[in-house]
Amino acid sequence: MHRKRRRAFDPYFSRASILRLETVITTLVQKMCTQICEVKGTGTPLNMSTMYRCLTTDIVSDYCFSQSHNMLDDPQGNEKFVVAFVGIFKMLFLMRESRWTAWLIQSMSVLPKWLVPTDECMAWIQGWQSGLGERIRDVKAGKKQVSRASVFEQYIHNDDVPVDEKSDKILLDNALLFVSAGLETTGFACATATYHILDSPTIYRTLKAEISSVWPKEGHMPPLTTLEKLPYLTACLKESLRLSIGVMSRFHRINHHRPIVYKEWTIDPGWSVSMSQRFVLYDEDIFPEAKTFRPERWLKGEQSRALDKCFVVFSRGARSCIGQSLAWAEMYLALASVVHSFDMSLHDTDRRHVDPKYDYFVPFPEVESGVRVIVK
Ligand code: HEM
Repeated sequence: MHRKRRRAFDPYFSRASILRLETVITTLVQKMCTQICEVKGTGTPLNMSTMYRCLTTDIVSDYCFSQSHNMLDDPQGNEKFVVAFVGIFKMLFLMRESRWTAWLIQSMSVLPKWLVPTDECMAWIQGWQSGLGERIRDVKAGKKQVSRASVFEQYIHNDDVPVDEKSDKILLDNALLFVSAGLETTGFACATATYHILDSPTIYRTLKAEISSVWPKEGHMPPLTTLEKLPYLTACLKESLRLSIGVMSRFHRINHHRPIVYKEWTIDPGWSVSMSQRFVLYDEDIFPEAKTFRPERWLKGEQSRALDKCFVVFSRGARSCIGQSLAWAEMYLALASVVHSFDMSLHDTDRRHVDPKYDYFVPFPEVESGVRVIVK
């Protein structure tokens, strides 16, 4: 079942599809930068973690439904809602062993009230959930008129997908999965990147200089394909993804048919094997000084290419991240814009705000108040 559904969604998240929709991402990144401009020169601290969460929510909802959530209209006003939404991951440890598709839905309807955010936030989350349902029904009824077809529109009108794979429940499950899977992972990676870049004047200067080489002062944002060729930017993004881990929990895999042979051990069919990708991404033998943000480790030719094998942040195989091309595109465009367009410094933020500490499926840092900056 998973394989069939995955195959049906795969084409919409391929690199070619993402490149076709680059303008969606670029427009929303520019909207985020307009919001950042509001505090420029005022000395008011700005929470970049909130900014990125609003950005990733708007991008994934626009991409999936051609209708953005418009969180970036008022990032500060929406902060409590994104925080509450991300907080739902904290409740999921109760249901850790089930697939995360089901988790979010179950957590909203079954969990006792005391575990759930304030009434106002809960109402927002439920409204958001029913809004997704409404959008699905509109798309099914052909009510939506937009210039480009969204992921869900294409899926619903794809005759190769069996009708029973297009029930309202399956579509809503998937809509929730895409939005929740794309929001915090990418948002946290962007916030981690911002922290480490601003924390080192040398890294900040080097990155600004590299981006300026393809983006003149008064010019337009370069296309994604140009940004992807920048080695230092790429290295900073890889290091941010590595340190932010993506998903902290163990992934379970069961081979029902054959034994798994690992070194001197043989694991019988039917046994669950699991590990967290943190063990690879923070392994000192693979990444010396693993807790240090060192873009240079990705700039050493052949030696760095060997590291790519251990870059498991999107997992590997049939269940690897379907949204990885989208995540990369968001990160390239958002980080290049923020670094190029503003002079920032960290405000009251240290590693406790970004280092993964708690395993709530996605990692949570010790201090959750976000990466705050002053925009000069
Ligand atoms: C930095 C960003 C991201 C990271 C690190 C990341 C990481 C991962 C990982 C490790 C998995 C495998 C989970 C498992 O085996 O159970 C996964 C699955 C998934 N991701 Fe991402 N992800 C990111 C962004 C996104 C985005 C933007 C989307 C938006 C569509 C997305 C959608 C999904 C979906 C739908 C799955 C389930 C795939 C399946 O079960 O076949 N992810 N992601």
